[in-house]
Amino acid sequence: MSGHLDLSPQPSALLESLRSIGYTIETALADIIDNSITAQSTSVSVQFLWNNGAPWVAIVDDGRGMTQEELIEAMRFGSRTPIESRDENDLGRFGLGMKTASISQCRHLTLASKRDGMLTACEWDLDKIATNGSASWLAGLYDPANITSDLLLNGLVSESLANRESGTILLWRRLDNSSVEKGNSIAEARFSEAMDSARKHLELVFHRFLSPDSPGRSAIKIDFNGNALDAFNPFGPLIPARQELPLETVHIDGRKILVQPYVLPHRSKVPTALYEQYAGEHGYLHNQGFYIYRNRRLIVKATWFRLIKKEELNKLIRVRVDIPNSLDHLWRIDVKKSQASPPESVRRELKKVIGRIAGAGKHVFTRRATVIKNRTLTPVWSREVADGKIRYGVNEEHPLVKSLLEMVTMEQASQLRTCLRLVNETFPYELFFADAASDTVEFEKPEYDEEEVRLAAVQLIDALRSYGFEGVDLRKQLLRTEAFPFPPELIDELLPEITKSNG
Ligand SMILES: Nc1ncnc2c1ncn2[C@@H]1O[C@H](COP(=O)(O)OP(=O)(O)OP(=O)(O)O)[C@@H](O)[C@H]1O
Ligand SMILES: [Mg+2]
Repeated sequence: MSGHLDLSPQPSALLESLRSIGYTIETALADIIDNSITAQSTSVSVQFLWNNGAPWVAIVDDGRGMTQEELIEAMRFGSRTPIESRDENDLGRFGLGMKTASISQCRHLTLASKRDGMLTACEWDLDKIATNGSASWLAGLYDPANITSDLLLNGLVSESLANRESGTILLWRRLDNSSVEKGNSIAEARFSEAMDSARKHLELVFHRFLSPDSPGRSAIKIDFNGNALDAFNPFGPLIPARQELPLETVHIDGRKILVQPYVLPHRSKVPTALYEQYAGEHGYLHNQGFYIYRNRRLIVKATWFRLIKKEELNKLIRVRVDIPNSLDHLWRIDVKKSQASPPESVRRELKKVIGRIAGAGKHVFTRRATVIKNRTLTPVWSREVADGKIRYGVNEEHPLVKSLLEMVTMEQASQLRTCLRLVNETFPYELFFADAASDTVEFEKPEYDEEEVRLAAVQLIDALRSYGFEGVDLRKQLLRTEAFPFPPELIDELLPEITKSNG
């Protein structure tokens, strides 16, 4: 080596590239709110205005704020190294989020913060850096007069920080993300849609802060222009029929990963509005899978990490996975806090967990079939389980089927059995399962013709009599045999000699 060269990056070139690391307005806002939560805010207010095509967004918190020295350091790209270990409640990692999230959405950001009554403000202006052609990373520091003459900033400061000892405002101006296209009404609608969708995203990402699920933690209020966000807990805590399966703990590098599976109830078990409410964006099929929370903040949602495919069968399973920030290096958390992938040792454990719980989701669908088996002693349909495989078939032990088989000649009985086998072996399992699991398909409830029901009752009573049932036993057996729903008056009429009280 014959010497060293200073190859500092060109600020304007690097800043423009850093704008495209893949934030959306949702993930950008979440990254900013992470900082407010880490700074122990109790309330975070997202304020925004279309402002006739010159929109702005401000994120205002009542957290511990920053001294001038801290604020200047906070504005530096790479203010802290990701290798450093962090407080266990810190939602940050890279020393980049506030800057990269902001410039993904706007060309001008101002950070104003108050700590112990002292206010400081500083800005990054991408246009100034581009036009100056400066080779230095020059941010702008405000003096009190600059703050007063900046009407928007001054208004926000007077409204939100003047009466507090501490707090922080991050202001985005010159927004130019995809939802903002200068000066037309479509762009205004798109901006408002983008903010609506950001709101939904944050209601999910921060639901455990908006509505704490463990004792001793107090709720954090987040609002959008004064409207409070409502926590959206994807595990349906308000659904009574929801199943909470046993909590599992995975140990890795001396740290704990908590895995809590839930099975949401089948649509037949809950009122439609409640079922729809927890479907979430894109519905149940899409929203099955693991939900990874880092320090209770949702990072990744609804994925099986390619361990299994998303299937109808598992669509009601959602698994909460809690990871600590001390395992970030193993999970490969990204700057945007929107990606994580489990290390191989955890993948193996998660696969075992899937093996144990996948059956539970299936149970919600097959339980109805199990009920069929248990409800009556002599069902019309038999359900057999062998080698983990399920088989449905017409039950030849049902009195009506049995007596028919005995009544006919041997040749006819053989033909009848072939016919039943055909029915059994061509049962459309896949079709039935897809229908049973579908949100939209309703099974038709049969309507009964009075004469048909009477005839069936007479035939069933005859069949039962031919097997020697009489009196009280006949009545009992009749009630234990699956058949059309016989009205009690019909049974009383056909079996007059046996009163209900001794049946
Ligand atoms: N609202 C806030 N209140 C108090 N301090 C803040 C606030 N926002 C940012 N800071 C300070 O600024 C620093 C830089 O924030 P930034 O989001 O850029 O990085 P980070 O949070 O450390 O890590 P990450 O890149 O993972 O978000 C933070 O570490 C924190 O000290
Ligand atoms: Mg951060």
